[in-house]
Amino acid sequence: MPKTVSDKIERWLTQHRQSLVALQKPQVTLCYAQSWDGSITIRPGEALALSGDASMRLTHLLRSLHDGILVGIGTVLADNPQLTVRECEGVSPQAIVLDSAVRIPENARLCQRQGQKCWVVTSVDQPEISRQDIELIRVASSAENELDLEQVLAILWQKGVRSVMVEGGAKVINAFIKAGLADAIVLTVAPRLVGGYKAIDNLGLSHKAELPRIRPIHTQSLGDDLIMWGELHYGSGND
Ligand SMILES: NC(=O)c1ccc[n+]([C@@H]2O[C@H](COP(=O)([O-])OP(=O)(O)OC[C@H]3O[C@@H](n4cnc5c(N)ncnc54)[C@H](OP(=O)(O)O)[C@@H]3O)[C@@H](O)[C@H]2O)c1
Repeated sequence: MPKTVSDKIERWLTQHRQSLVALQKPQVTLCYAQSWDGSITIRPGEALALSGDASMRLTHLLRSLHDGILVGIGTVLADNPQLTVRECEGVSPQAIVLDSAVRIPENARLCQRQGQKCWVVTSVDQPEISRQDIELIRVASSAENELDLEQVLAILWQKGVRSVMVEGGAKVINAFIKAGLADAIVLTVAPRLVGGYKAIDNLGLSHKAELPRIRPIHTQSLGDDLIMWGELHYGSGND
């Protein structure tokens, strides 16, 4: 039987992934850290390290368990993350950025990976962009100028990506939940009160029965942090 939180989550993720195979879409796992009051940072556009050392190691293990790791351009511009696996053994997942106007800077750390171009999802047809450090993936966007996430996942599946870890930021996490496309969540809750920028904003739902639900739930403390994980279920009648 698995004993550590890492072992438990690895086993759970693998089993859950098998249950989704028939859907022919990548498993989408939201993995991020928040304060006790639900903030992921103080202000949007600013980095804030919330996870303790052990939770950070867990994040690296989670990355190693996914084929792709996806963030929004807001996170790239704020944090300039590497999104690699450094705190444990394992292969770094393919970096994917939602960035409709291709604002990702050439000196972004995601564009410096040896032998792996960053995949940049955009809505604009820009044949004049000829950068060697990125691979453009074109999808449609909505009237609100948000990239069509269903189409993003379909293309990732075609490219052989079977699992995607969505690490943030708030707009992207919110959008995946709103679209009902996030399958599971691994949340690190750090013992801070921030009163800042929340991951989940307005989901546009007004009745309790419609609210996404996490079921079954798992919790375990790790250092000073609390790790909470479970499958996401959508739609009315999920009580
Ligand atoms: N605590 C944590 O675990 C954690 C993790 C990650 C980030 N963060 C923090 O979160 C903040 C960044 O979050 P953010 O909300 O400002 O930005 P974000 O979610 O990282 O990126 C949002 C941007 O992605 C693009 N996008 C394209 N299609 C989208 C879609 N369908 N849905 C949503 N976004 C789409 C949009 O830019 P375009 O219109 O230009 O395409 C949008 O403005 C930073 O301060 C960072 O430090 C915290």
